[in-house]
Amino acid sequence: MLIELPKHTEIFGCIKIHEVQRVLKFESEEVHSELLRGFSKEEMEEILNRMTIVVPIKDEKMHLLDGVLRSIPLGCNIVVVSNSQRGEKDIFKMERDLISDFYRVTKHPIVLIHQKDPGLGVAFKEVGYEYILDETGFVRNGKAEGMIIGLLLAKRIGSDYVGFVDADNYIPCSVNEYVRLYCAGLSISNTPYSMVRLHWRYKPKVIEDRLYFRKWGRVSEITNRYLNMLLAVQTGFETNIIKTGNAGEHAMTMKLAEIMAFSTGYSIEPYQLVYLLEEFWKGETKFKEAVTSGIEVYQIETLNPHIHEEKGDEHIKEMLLQSLATIYHSKLSNEKLRNDIVEELKRNGVIKRKTEIKKNEIMPPINSIDIKEFNKLLDEYSETFIMYG
Ligand code: GDD
Repeated sequence: MLIELPKHTEIFGCIKIHEVQRVLKFESEEVHSELLRGFSKEEMEEILNRMTIVVPIKDEKMHLLDGVLRSIPLGCNIVVVSNSQRGEKDIFKMERDLISDFYRVTKHPIVLIHQKDPGLGVAFKEVGYEYILDETGFVRNGKAEGMIIGLLLAKRIGSDYVGFVDADNYIPCSVNEYVRLYCAGLSISNTPYSMVRLHWRYKPKVIEDRLYFRKWGRVSEITNRYLNMLLAVQTGFETNIIKTGNAGEHAMTMKLAEIMAFSTGYSIEPYQLVYLLEEFWKGETKFKEAVTSGIEVYQIETLNPHIHEEKGDEHIKEMLLQSLATIYHSKLSNEKLRNDIVEELKRNGVIKRKTEIKKNEIMPPINSIDIKEFNKLLDEYSETFIMYG
């Protein structure tokens, strides 16, 4: 993998946000120069061996999950957290059969759990992390909630890095690229607290009878604009540094993941940036080591286009509302920015009144969880947890 090094970086206290970097060649020798960095196969493998890839899934087509799993590079662990339907039409069982077959044939280590596993409910409650539970004592629905479970399982495996890829991807080999870009970004970082967020080169759509290669997803463009405005409110300087506000595809060092707070549902990705700024730039954090070491955010543009399952207008509106709500309710925001957000959401037919912009539920960092106890309880009470390999 040969990538550009960031030519421009903006600094917010101990946080560095790097400009988008491009991929110049999918494979490379080891290269170190002022402007470029090439990674040999061996260097990639070194990081892959320390990484877990979490795949959150809810009722996706088996073909898509199958492609995603087969494309994840060898070396890293895989954790699938499913919130798929059970009961008469048992989609979770189909996933389990697919995964056990995948393991039988490939021997790629893989872990599977269902989000509504009673063991997770018991374990989270007993270790005092009830923020993730609903009123019946089970883990709530939501992609973010699935990601937190994945994170804890990655920690159990002992991984130093954790990356996330969606299961509804129509181009399997793009997933292979995503994971390699995670490795590249994380290995150029100068701090143990870093994250890589991917910017898709294109998001194609069929328009009339041909493929049209759009540069931006509808939600991402708006979320990025308001995240950048949030920075401008604080600095007094306009910027367009943030290009990955809604990056579902992202990875972190475990050290950063452990001190990260998570917002529910689809606000999880923009909230990661808002949280870092609130906590480590303008806040009085208790995580002093991260301040001393510094936090780095890399944004890398993929070679592959991204084609995923289209889930309709209501889904898009929900995602936009949840994303902008994180900015609206941020303590870094001001009256003018809040008014602009209200107008934006009204213009897009998402809300009629500003009272509809509800604060997203926030789940605090997982570093407070006694992981040994969590694992013990999970082993004792789980009904769906399987580790292959
Ligand atoms: N475990 C779990 N639990 N997984 C879920 C849940 C859930 O409750 N809900 C959705 N997922 C899985 C989906 O099956 C898919 O693999 C992934 O999470 C993404 O969810 P989608 O609902 O398909 O989101 P999207 O594809 O429209 O949006 C994606 O891209 C956005 C940026 O454009 C997501 O990654 C967003 O988070 C991201 O902001």
